[in-house]
Amino acid sequence: MALVNLFGSKGKRALSTLLICAVIFELDAQEQRTTPGRKPSKPKLGKSTNKGPRAVTPKIKATPAVPAQTVLTQVLNRRKFKKVGETISVQTGDTLELRCRGKPVQWSVPKYLEEDDEGRLRIVQHERYGVLTLVNTTGADTGEYTCYPMYCEDTDCRKEYDKAVKVFVFFPDPQELFVPTSEYYEAIQLRTNWPTLLPCQVTSPEAKVTLHREFPPVEVAVDGKEISFNVKRGFTIHRPRPHHAGALFCVASLGNLRQSSTKYMLIYVNYPMAPPAPVIQASSSSVAVGENLRVICSVVGEQDVVVEFTWEYPGQQIGRPLYTQESISPVGGGAARQQSQSVLLVDEVRDVDQGAYTCTAQNLQGVKSVFTNVKVVPNAKPKKP
Ligand SMILES: *[C@@H]1O[C@H](CO)[C@@H](O)[C@H](O)[C@H]1NC(C)=O
Repeated sequence: MALVNLFGSKGKRALSTLLICAVIFELDAQEQRTTPGRKPSKPKLGKSTNKGPRAVTPKIKATPAVPAQTVLTQVLNRRKFKKVGETISVQTGDTLELRCRGKPVQWSVPKYLEEDDEGRLRIVQHERYGVLTLVNTTGADTGEYTCYPMYCEDTDCRKEYDKAVKVFVFFPDPQELFVPTSEYYEAIQLRTNWPTLLPCQVTSPEAKVTLHREFPPVEVAVDGKEISFNVKRGFTIHRPRPHHAGALFCVASLGNLRQSSTKYMLIYVNYPMAPPAPVIQASSSSVAVGENLRVICSVVGEQDVVVEFTWEYPGQQIGRPLYTQESISPVGGGAARQQSQSVLLVDEVRDVDQGAYTCTAQNLQGVKSVFTNVKVVPNAKPKKP
């Protein structure tokens, strides 16, 4: 029973396990008056009907004996408590009230509420639990509500992420099947092999949601592997390929209602799995004055992934003009790979050209530099190794 879970650890006010409606009102009032700094009484293990991990934790001096399991309950209209599952639905207009055991707790709410709740959201910390109340709810409030118990040492508190409990709350709106967004359309990058989310969020778990392409107007097959749907998130394209690009939107239907979501403009980007790993090599590590020098910098990577090269070289400061030649060539083998290369050409080497030649290669994942040293020797025949 939820009541027992909530108050089973209460010592002083040893609540009988048969609390009923009216009593809880009174309890709330008492909880509010309690000073937070007070020493908590030890939990009475025997009282818990909780089948979760028993609070047999060894006594740690600094920490109050907090029950090991976080419990999140929904307070229903008639002051009834209900332990929440993964999702709940609350009628729009109604009040959402969640209680979370912990001393103290912190909450996270959907982003839109965080930014502007118009005074509808109230969070109160009682002695042993926190309460989140959201009034005048709308479909836009649909989303994840999380309670984080805090671990405190004196005044130092941190969230206990592993004990967080979350509930996804739907606010089925008879007029709006999709959680409204401020944008008429949203541009989304499809990166090679990186899962991409189309966040068309419905306000009701009962809505049937399909995915559609604008041109040509077709329904997109959702097989659960290449593309999958999650009622708490939207559609995910697991391994984007160029053919997924274009304008897509979701359609939700429930009863007689059928509505389209925001449009998603999917733009395909050839995206590397990793930063480039350039390799540098000079035609010779020792060049005679007057000879020509070539320094080659090359990167092997995924096909169609753009690599940009930049160079730093000794003659740079005095404005020595240098030339680079860039090229791309396919690499043999099964996987679609290519070699991108930049060649730095130094005609008629002078003394000032001696030093370190640095090549920096960049792709969408990152940057890496490599260098090689070149020695310039007098105009006699250079000693070849
Ligand atoms: C909730 O709605 C009622 C009725 O429209 C209004 O009087 C009240 O001010 C609203 N409360 C908040 C906190 O917005």
